[in-house]
Amino acid sequence: GKPTQDELKRAAAHRAVELVEPGMTLGLGTGSTAAHALDRLGDLLRAGALPGVAGVPTSLKTEAHAARVGIPLLSLGGGPDMKIHLSIDGADEVDPDLNLVKGRGGSLLREKMIEGAGDRFVVIVDESKLVPRLGCTGAIPVEVVPFGARHTLGLIREVFDGLPGFHARLREGSEDAPFVTDNGNYIVEMFFEDGIRGDLRDISDRLLRITGVVEHGMFLRMATTVIVANKDGTVAVIN
Ligand code: A5P
Repeated sequence: GKPTQDELKRAAAHRAVELVEPGMTLGLGTGSTAAHALDRLGDLLRAGALPGVAGVPTSLKTEAHAARVGIPLLSLGGGPDMKIHLSIDGADEVDPDLNLVKGRGGSLLREKMIEGAGDRFVVIVDESKLVPRLGCTGAIPVEVVPFGARHTLGLIREVFDGLPGFHARLREGSEDAPFVTDNGNYIVEMFFEDGIRGDLRDISDRLLRITGVVEHGMFLRMATTVIVANKDGTVAVIN
């Protein structure tokens, strides 16, 4: 029968793990697709196939998962000559220029720090993640400090004031309290009708200039490779 979405995620993840060589330090992504890569890496490490491989986890969840499957862990900046050779992570959306939306699972800051620091960043997706414009299928998350979060939300709204269909809100967690990230911050979710239009670099700069904004989930020109698992069973590698 037709592959399930989870089987597609696994196919993309396994293809990415083929790029891993002995001795590499990896950026370890977060989410349901990246989880398949962690499982695969754990299997290969336990079989002795990838000596010297270690990983830098992009979230607390990934840290726990990687430890469970036996991937040795390092932290970012953990040594003077530490170098990340390759990062592997999923994405919520991929546009035709390989720009990404990430962080709908709640992680984005550690992901951007680690994946931006490495030599290569391989993104693993099933074909449902391919979009014509970022923000087409859901929120673009922005991590903000808790202090004055509603004030910061107002400043974010000003950037996009008047755009058709634009709205923004604080992401909710459990029991009516705001969702809290691994870094103790909140998330503002931005929604656009048919996705975000305009110069993404400029929009990114405007968001990052707002005091109180820590980082946003648009990963612009960061992916060096995107691996797409298609429903027809093929796996495409886009460089
Ligand atoms: C974590 O918040 C995200 O950036 C994920 O990497 C992204 O949301 C993709 O997750 P899935 O592989 O679960 O779709």
